[in-house]
Amino acid sequence: MSSKTKLLFVDDHEMTRRLFLEAVSNDSLIIETACEGQDALTKLRTFPADIVFTDIKMPVMDGLILLEKIRIHYPNIFIVVVTSSDRIEDAVQAMKAGAYDYIHKPFDPDVIMTVIESITGHKKILEENLFNGIDRRKDYRFENIVGCDPIMLQIFDKINDVAITNATVLLTGETGTGKDLVAAAIHYKSHRKEGPFIRVNCAALTETLSNSELFGHEKGAFTGAISQKKGYFEIADGGTIFLDEIGDLPIPTQVSLLHSIESRTFQRVGGTKMFKANTRIICATNKSLPTMVKENLFREDLFYRINVVCIDIPALCKRKSDIPVLANYFLKKFCTETKKNIPRISDAAMKILTQYNWPGNVRELSNIIENAVIFCKGKEIVPANLLKIGEKPHKKAFTLNLSSWSLPRAEEMIIRKALAETNGNLKQAASELNIARGTLYSKMKRYGIQKP
Ligand SMILES: Nc1ncnc2c1ncn2[C@@H]1O[C@H](COP(=O)(O)OP(=O)(O)O)[C@@H](O)[C@H]1O
Ligand SMILES: [Mg+2]
Repeated sequence: MSSKTKLLFVDDHEMTRRLFLEAVSNDSLIIETACEGQDALTKLRTFPADIVFTDIKMPVMDGLILLEKIRIHYPNIFIVVVTSSDRIEDAVQAMKAGAYDYIHKPFDPDVIMTVIESITGHKKILEENLFNGIDRRKDYRFENIVGCDPIMLQIFDKINDVAITNATVLLTGETGTGKDLVAAAIHYKSHRKEGPFIRVNCAALTETLSNSELFGHEKGAFTGAISQKKGYFEIADGGTIFLDEIGDLPIPTQVSLLHSIESRTFQRVGGTKMFKANTRIICATNKSLPTMVKENLFREDLFYRINVVCIDIPALCKRKSDIPVLANYFLKKFCTETKKNIPRISDAAMKILTQYNWPGNVRELSNIIENAVIFCKGKEIVPANLLKIGEKPHKKAFTLNLSSWSLPRAEEMIIRKALAETNGNLKQAASELNIARGTLYSKMKRYGIQKP
């Protein structure tokens, strides 16, 4: 097996073909060219390319049809489409049709080399997995994501499909639907899984510091920059950066992010050097970005860049068949954690769970079951164990099984229970707990308890 990577470059303009050859020729590559789709297919009969770079608009057979044919006849070839930078929708269409990545004209040799390196790295892992008898495309085990609803099964397929590409992914859905989980699944199913998975909460970035947080800074770049610091993009090199709550990214940082995605490079604040960014980007939001674009709160060009592949995770009430499965999954999980033995959820309790509309989605269901497990005395979860959504929350004194918990864990649970019983009234909950409201608030923050 030759170690050289074989490229086929397809474009109807001779000049463009020449520019490509000039941009990327090096010793580790063997490059052939073709002048349109049909010509490319003829070349592929004798030239076993690893990667095909193809233009989209071409006479006779255009790039999208070529892409489809290659996917059918040569499923192991990676396809990268070449578009002009004002035709991002072509790239989006191509990614959806199975292209691995896209690049822009005019060519940036560094971008092309980054794409080639990413593909050869990916290929290597695929080959290793094949030798180990694992076909990643058939790996449908989603241990951490539970779901049987047809919509969720479609999402599992989509995760599998997109994980093997380098595409930027946008995850949309209400809070608590599982966006974090899906982002992690994409990373751990990709060839980047040995690399870092870095989650950044964009809502927590301040306007003044967000560029430096994302891209790093040089020593002395601003007051307080006492030493050089790597940003999240650099830390996530070779892996995935998960930009959560992307709708909250300050506008100036949106500009830098867009530039970084387009050029696949980034610059530290106060620096002049451009660094290569071999970082896959996954974004998530519970906001409507199209609406934000209309209101000038989110840049339209950035929206198109990150919306290459979109996975929308439906609210829990839209996939009711998942409720019993999830409820039983959480029952098992929290029983293991608390070392309790509660084998089932009673029919009456399950009825309440399936009829409720879950505004807090899976997170709320998880919290309710966690509470139920804590307060359940028998061998099954009964309606009285279901806080808030049960008929009447019982207002008995806390009788907690503390033996298997750490002190902070017990404190967290007591706080959660007080909040649930007072319907999220902080003042009342604080008074029941006999602490100041400020103390309650800071403890909630520490344990990551949202204000209901
Ligand atoms: N399909 C699922 N299977 C198992 N657990 C889930 C599922 N969806 C969400 N969860 C759990 O619910 C909680 C909220 O999910 P998360 O991914 O943080 O939601 P989001 O990021 O959309 O707010 C997490 O504890 C997560 O593990
Ligand atoms: Mg989240």
